[in-house]
Amino acid sequence: MTQPKRIAITGAAGQICYSMLFRIAAGEIYGPDQPVSLHLLEITPALGLLEAVKMELDDCAFPLLNDVVCTDDPKVALNKVDAVLFVGAKPRGPGMERSDLITDNGKIFSSLGKVLNEVGNPDCKVCVVGNPANTNAYILKANAPNINPRNITALTRLDHNRALSQLAAKAGARIGDIQKMVIWGNHSTTQVPDISYASINGKAASDMVDQTWAREEFIPTVAKRGAEVIKARGSSSAASAANGVIDHMSSWIQGTPDGDWVSMAVPSDGSYGIDEGLIYSFPVQIKNGDYTIISDLDVSDFIKEKMMASQQELRDERDTVAALLNT
Ligand code: NAD
Ligand code: LMR
Repeated sequence: MTQPKRIAITGAAGQICYSMLFRIAAGEIYGPDQPVSLHLLEITPALGLLEAVKMELDDCAFPLLNDVVCTDDPKVALNKVDAVLFVGAKPRGPGMERSDLITDNGKIFSSLGKVLNEVGNPDCKVCVVGNPANTNAYILKANAPNINPRNITALTRLDHNRALSQLAAKAGARIGDIQKMVIWGNHSTTQVPDISYASINGKAASDMVDQTWAREEFIPTVAKRGAEVIKARGSSSAASAANGVIDHMSSWIQGTPDGDWVSMAVPSDGSYGIDEGLIYSFPVQIKNGDYTIISDLDVSDFIKEKMMASQQELRDERDTVAALLNT
């Protein structure tokens, strides 16, 4: 029998996970032939609610779901797993920026980083979702030097999907007709959604929508979409965030289609003048479970300036959390 892949998920009784766990158990990350085991981590007061989630997982009778471990002990949850989805963290409310969460949420990532360092599989694939996601991933990386740093990533796939959706609506196209969207930078309002390389049915997207829309409407609409959802819903995006995580992980494991790429926040390799090691969103192509940053795109001065502003925000966040970096 195929050995199950073990996936640890933090904040498993929260909103995002309620939309995500069932899809993972149905095989949406590792594919339809791969059994999975779920290691679900929560804080102690939420263990009762987590037990209810497990009951519902059981009641779905998923053929690929091997077993479910529910725990409040990070050493149990993170022990030798193949992948970790770090969702557990406070969400922001109306009127807040994601960076306002840094003081409370940063501590979660320094402490879980240390545990991952101690009990984790050095090659485990990590996706940080809890906000501010890029800087939390940076904190985690600094506290987990035994883990392959290339495998510590943060989620910007939700932004990528938001950008695809906005462009499709504007151009009257289908999502599947669009290739080569890019999100550069931080998962924040400084992010840079960029259609410069995008094509729609093989034709340049920038010839099909006007430049004023691309600069003045598209970029801020995508960058501020999280706050718009909070305003409309009263709490932050959950199902679309869960979908972004599943897309991020399934692309990483199963690869990107020929001729296309996806956006992932990964440790910079210095491409485009971004500080090495900063967790920054780039376009990546993925084969055999490993990603490559697309490093040779011709970037306009307009986009470059915004990319640098997003880098500066990440540098500032890094300085704010200096005490958590274990260096
Ligand atoms: P939620 O409040 O519904 O759930 C969070 C869960 O995490 C809670 O059940 C809580 O008990 C648990 N938790 C808190 N500290 C924990 C710890 N140390 N260990 C384990 N579990 C812990 O929130 P949510 O809506 O699921 O959002 C979770 C995070 O994801 C927030 O920070 C939110 O801002 C972020 N988010 C990120 C993106 C993205 O695109 N990167 C998108 C949406 C939401
Ligand atoms: C999002 O982009 O929807 C999330 O990061 C939640 C938020 O705080 O906006």
